[in-house]
Amino acid sequence: MSNNNKPWVEKYRPKVLSEVVGNEEAVARLEAIAATGNLPNVILAGPPGTGKTTSMLALARQMLGDVYNEGVLELNASDDRGIEVVRERIKMFAKKRVNVPEGAHKLVVLDEADSMTTAAQQAMRRTMEVYSNTTRFALACNNSNKIAEPIQSRCAMVRFSKLSDKHVLDRLEFVCRQENVTATAKGLEALIFTADGDMRNALNNLQSTYSGFGVVDDVSVFRVCDQPHPVVVARILTNCLDGDLEKGLQDLQTLWGQGYAAIDLIQTFFKVTRALDVPEAPKLALLKHVGFAHMRIADGAATLLQLAGLLAKISNANLKVKVRHLVDDGVDLDGGGGM
Ligand SMILES: Nc1ncnc2c1ncn2[C@@H]1O[C@H](COP(=O)(O)OP(=O)(O)OP(=O)(O)O)[C@@H](O)[C@H]1O
Ligand SMILES: [Mg+2]
Repeated sequence: MSNNNKPWVEKYRPKVLSEVVGNEEAVARLEAIAATGNLPNVILAGPPGTGKTTSMLALARQMLGDVYNEGVLELNASDDRGIEVVRERIKMFAKKRVNVPEGAHKLVVLDEADSMTTAAQQAMRRTMEVYSNTTRFALACNNSNKIAEPIQSRCAMVRFSKLSDKHVLDRLEFVCRQENVTATAKGLEALIFTADGDMRNALNNLQSTYSGFGVVDDVSVFRVCDQPHPVVVARILTNCLDGDLEKGLQDLQTLWGQGYAAIDLIQTFFKVTRALDVPEAPKLALLKHVGFAHMRIADGAATLLQLAGLLAKISNANLKVKVRHLVDDGVDLDGGGGM
């Protein structure tokens, strides 16, 4: 594949730990491990697109250097990782003699470990112990609950969390400079909004928007991401807060007519509410309503009526009055209008 059409997520995947942005504490821990080479068994856990696989591979490269090929066994969810493989391949690898650098160990990298069957995980327990003086394990997963307890107890947990908007923005700007992409400030904001702390998502959407439209502005980003424009959602919310349910319902109807799924809509409602510039107490009250609607939608009641009900609750809740009480000076929610 030529460098030109390589997906940017791969092209700009950090090669060394120092390039991984965000999650400073987790990365610092891994850096310290890489420096000494003395890796305990580790689990990297956290949300998608935050650098777990990247960090794990960088760590392996930094520790094993030239003997990466012989010294690392990489298995991910696309490989067969049933109980047979654990018994045969991992055990074979653990027995193999490799001249690793002083103080380092051979490394079994198990990506997406939460998709391994319980039986396969159980079968690893003994191997992890028996070969511990030559072989260490690094696991990555989204959900550490899905890793069997005995495995967790043998590993140090390194937690990753969603990347901050600032980190995503910096990286997006860096890639834009490298690729000569001009993106408007609103376009970048839209990418950050839709990615919600997922760097992979942000970079992929940047590339799709750029190759699809040639420009990166908010309208094209939301079109590529196929998400309701948060400005519309924010308008719905402020109208309802003003007690103008009719207006809110009209916009909602339009969005619904454009074919957005209730779950996508409610997720945007949530993100917009979270970012809304109102004092904490009414915001929490709002989030509670949104949260309940989200729960019901996730339970299957994913209808327009559900969303309309939410808007009715918001316009009825007298939240605006509470907001008014709490706004001592100058937070302008609506630019006029009243209840
Ligand atoms: N912290 C980061 N710093 C720089 N780039 C990142 C970071 N996190 C993710 N990326 C970008 O996103 C891509 C995917 O990251 P990675 O494969 O490490 O995600 P992950 O945490 O393993 O996600 P998943 O849980 O979905 O496997 C990388 O190739 C890189 O381009
Ligand atoms: Mg991964």
